Formats: sequence, structure tokens, C-alpha cells
Amino acid sequence: MGSLSVRGLTARYGKTVALHGLDLELADGEFFVILGPSGAGKTTTLKSVAGLVDGAGGEVHIAGRDMTGVEPYDRGVAMAFESYALYPQKTVEQNLASPLRSGRNGTWTSAQQSERIRQVTTTLGIDHLLGRYPRELSNGQRQRTALGRVLVRPAEVYLLDEPLSHLDAKLRAAMRAELKQLGELSGTTTLYVTHDYQEALALGDRIGVLREGRLVQVGTPAQVWGEPVDTFVARSLGQPEMNLLDAPVDPGGVARVAGVAVVVPADAGGAVRVGIRPRDLEAVDGPAPEGRLVLRGRVTLAERLGRSVELSVDAAGHPVIAVTADHRVREGDEVTLSVDWGRVHVFGPGEPGPRLGSAREPLMTGRAR
Ligand SMILES: Nc1ncnc2c1ncn2[C@@H]1O[C@H](COP(=O)(O)OP(=O)(O)O)[C@@H](O)[C@H]1O
Ligand SMILES: [Mg+2]
Repeated sequence: MGSLSVRGLTARYGKTVALHGLDLELADGEFFVILGPSGAGKTTTLKSVAGLVDGAGGEVHIAGRDMTGVEPYDRGVAMAFESYALYPQKTVEQNLASPLRSGRNGTWTSAQQSERIRQVTTTLGIDHLLGRYPRELSNGQRQRTALGRVLVRPAEVYLLDEPLSHLDAKLRAAMRAELKQLGELSGTTTLYVTHDYQEALALGDRIGVLREGRLVQVGTPAQVWGEPVDTFVARSLGQPEMNLLDAPVDPGGVARVAGVAVVVPADAGGAVRVGIRPRDLEAVDGPAPEGRLVLRGRVTLAERLGRSVELSVDAAGHPVIAVTADHRVREGDEVTLSVDWGRVHVFGPGEPGPRLGSAREPLMTGRAR
């Protein structure tokens, strides 16, 4: 086990700059997730830490050791690649044994190898499959075996590249729940990259959001979810994505969003975007609740999603998505949607627009009580 420190990490492929000076500090035993869309530089980050990118710049320290000039196999990292290839002609046990036989991960007697393989396959729940060949495994079992090939190697730092991406949604959710409980992962410094925000929120002690080779926000799941630094981060977390409503701001600092007055932070210019997560909106019957922001509109589409309903609403010309538990709402209905003021985000213009803060209720609403 060891800490991981990355300073000013750069990488390029020809003219493409993949990483623009990344800084990262992982504490010993921390599980850190990098979240970013395809092409953001996630794989390149892991490969650079592992020493697999030619001409990568910056500094990497693992367990306090400077990695400059250190060969990949000497860095104390175990990396899982996106492809997760298994040897088709080898059994599960032989697949797991091969990293231990290479000699690059220490010298293991066959008794030690068996013990280590038993330990890892037990935590992964594949200890009954040791004699099977990859073609005799389900997708989920194959993925676990591939992960086993990584975890079987004792390492200071595990580098995991989208290990659940090849699984169907149900298995992914199950593995997500299990992954952090794995003895090998809990307690070993892990840098895990994914494009799946649910994985990031569920697994990360901290999350770093990567955009075009730059970390734009680093924080706990609660921080990046609750206070996204810009509209890119806001949109990266949550499905459906956060609603962003354009709103002009009057000279008194009051924005109008779908006909509703909203007090925005003092440094807002002439226009803002008001951000509301679809699941923070509630469909309400009867009079609009006080102390909440209220939007009114007509339902243009109502789609059932199991226990909840996704509503597309036209709120005074603004398209708004709301996910509610109310199953009675039908297409064509007029609905009243309300949201806690504390969950109304305000962003500046531009792409991405910077977070300015939360919105507030105007003090003088003029509403009869
Ligand atoms: N071997 C390569 N040659 C050229 N460009 C590459 C290569 N690998 C990655 N890139 C480019 O570098 C950027 C980052 O890629 P990558 O790290 O694979 O992103 P991610 O893993 O987040 O999808 C992308 O623009 C990608 O096209
Ligand atoms: Mg990748």
C-alpha cells in the first residue's frame, strides 16, 4: 500500500495533447475515481502513472518514491486495461497464476500461488470456477476473472480502467455494490476511471471530474454532486441531466425563469442559467407550496420508468424534465412543479458556465398569505 502523488502530468499523441498538467494526491488506502466522457484522457492518465506513455511529462510518486525513469513493472502498480483480455486456452486458475509466474511480481512457490489465487477468487465469488475455460464463463464471470488477474498481484496502487463497462446494467449495479467490499481493494490505494457517474458516486472516497485532459473539480461525492463548479460537471452527474434554464437578470439582481422571479448571486451579469436536477422537482397537487420555487407548465410527454415517471414539461417556453413518483400525471396535463430553493443552482453564461451559487427566493414576493 502507498500514497500516489501526481504533479503536472502531461501527455500527448503527436499533435493531440491528451493531458494538460494533471495534479492528484491520493492518500494511502484512498479509493479515487476519475469521471469523464470518452476521450477525456482517463486511460492516458492511468497509463502515464504506470509508465506506459512515451514522453509523458510531470512527476509521479508512488509510496513516496519518485518514478522518473522507473520501468512499469517496477512501479508497484497493477493495472487493468479496458479490454480485459483472458488467455482463451488457459483455465481461470492458470489465467490468475500467470501474473505470479512472470517473476515481475515477486517469487512465488506454487503453494503460495494457490493460496493467493484462492484468496482472490473467494472474494470475487469465482472460486468454484478455477478449472473452467473463459468460453465456459458468463460475461460477469469473465469480468471477475479479468479483475482477479489484476488483484492477484500485490501492489502499492491498483489502476482500474472502466472494469465494469462490459457488463449489462443489472450485473454492473451488482458488481458496483460488491467492488468496494473486496478485501484487495478496500485498503489498497486505487485509482479507478469510469464514464459512469453512478459508479463514481458509489465507489469514490473522492471524485475528480476530467474534461479534455484537465481536472475541473476534485471533491467528495457530496461536493461534486451538490456544488458542481460548472455546467460541465453539473451535466456529468445525473440522468436525466440537470435542467439548465436561460434567464435574463434585471439590474436589481433578479432573474426571471419561466415567469418566476429568482434572486441570483450578486456577481451575476445580465444573464444566467438556472440549474435544477430532474429528481429535485416534485409534481404537486393543489396550491403551490410556499418556501419553494414553483414552475408551472404543460406535460408534453410522460414516460414510465418503473416506479417513477419522467415528465417532459413546457414551462412558459422552457423545456423542463422532471422525474417524479406521481403516476397520475398524463400528457397534456397542466402541472405544478416545485423545488427546494437550496437545490436551485445558478451558473454564468458560456460553455461551460461557472457556478455562481444557489438561488434565493425574492423577499417581497407580493403574494397574499
Ligand atoms: N494511441 C493514441 N494515438 C493517438 N491519439 C490517442 C491515442 N490514445 C488516445 N488518444 C487520444 O487522446 C485523448 C485521450 O484518450 P484516452 O485517454 O483514451 O481517453 P478516455 O480513456 O477518457 O476515453 C483522446 O483525444 C484520444 O483520441
Ligand atoms: Mg479509456
